[in-house]
Amino acid sequence: MTAKVILLTNQKGGCGKTTLTMNIAGAFGKKHKVLLIDGDPQGSASRWAASAEDDKQFPCAVMSLANITDKVNREIKKYLNDYEYIFVDCPPAIDNKFTASALLIANLAIVPVIPSPTDLWSAIGIQKLISDVSEINENLGARLLANMCQTNASIAKEALSLINEFEFPKFNTDIYQRTAYRQAAAYGSTVLDMDNSKAKTEINNLVAEIKEILK
Ligand SMILES: Nc1ncnc2c1ncn2[C@@H]1O[C@H](COP(=O)(O)OP(=O)(O)OP(=O)(O)O)[C@@H](O)[C@H]1O
Ligand SMILES: [Mg+2]
Repeated sequence: MTAKVILLTNQKGGCGKTTLTMNIAGAFGKKHKVLLIDGDPQGSASRWAASAEDDKQFPCAVMSLANITDKVNREIKKYLNDYEYIFVDCPPAIDNKFTASALLIANLAIVPVIPSPTDLWSAIGIQKLISDVSEINENLGARLLANMCQTNASIAKEALSLINEFEFPKFNTDIYQRTAYRQAAAYGSTVLDMDNSKAKTEINNLVAEIKEILK
C-alpha cells in the first residue's frame, strides 16, 4: 500500500480549504484507510474532528503537522505505507515552506476557489507554485474546485473565462454554498451525515472524480 497524497491549497484565506478537506477526506474515510493532516497553525481541521460526539468519531485519522515547516514531505513519507489516501489541509499562505514542501510528495493539488474575479486573481500565485513544483514532481496533478457557488446561478461568464485561463482544469463538480457544510463542522462530521441530499451528491461526485484522476 502506498498512499496517494492529496493537498487542498490556496494562499487565499476562507475559500473553503478546511471545509472541503474534511468533507472529502471524511467521505474517503468511510471506505478507505485515510489520514488527514492538519497543516494549518489555526488548527481548524483538528478542532473540526474533535467536535465529533464520542460515539460518532470523525471517519478518518487526523493529526497535525502544523508545527513542522521544513521538509514536510519527509514527514508525510513516513505514513505512506500505512494509508491508502493522505489528505493535507494547507495553511492560507504560500510564503511559508509548508505547502511547497508538501507539494513535492503530492499526487494531486486541489485549489478551492470562490468563482469571483478577485478570488481567482489571488489564485494565480498558487498556480505558479504548483507549476514550479511539477517540474520536479512529475506525479503532481492539479485541479481548481469551485466552492460556495450560488444556488440558482451558474458561474458568471467573467469567472468562467478566468478559470479557463488557468494551467489546470476545474473539476466538473461544483460545490454550492449550503448550510449543511457549516453544520457538518459544528457536528464534527461530513455532509454525508447531514440531511441535505444535494450536498451529499456533490461530495460523492467529487470523490468519484478524484478517484478517476488518481487511477
Ligand atoms: N460550500 C460552502 N457552503 C457554505 N459555507 C461554506 C462552504 N465552504 C466554506 N464555507 C464556510 O466559509 C468559511 C471559510 O471556510 P474554511 O474555513 O473551510 O476556509 P479555509 O480556506 O480553510 O480558510 P483559512 O484560509 O482561514 O484556513 C467557513 O465559515 C465555512 O463554514
Ligand atoms: Mg482552513
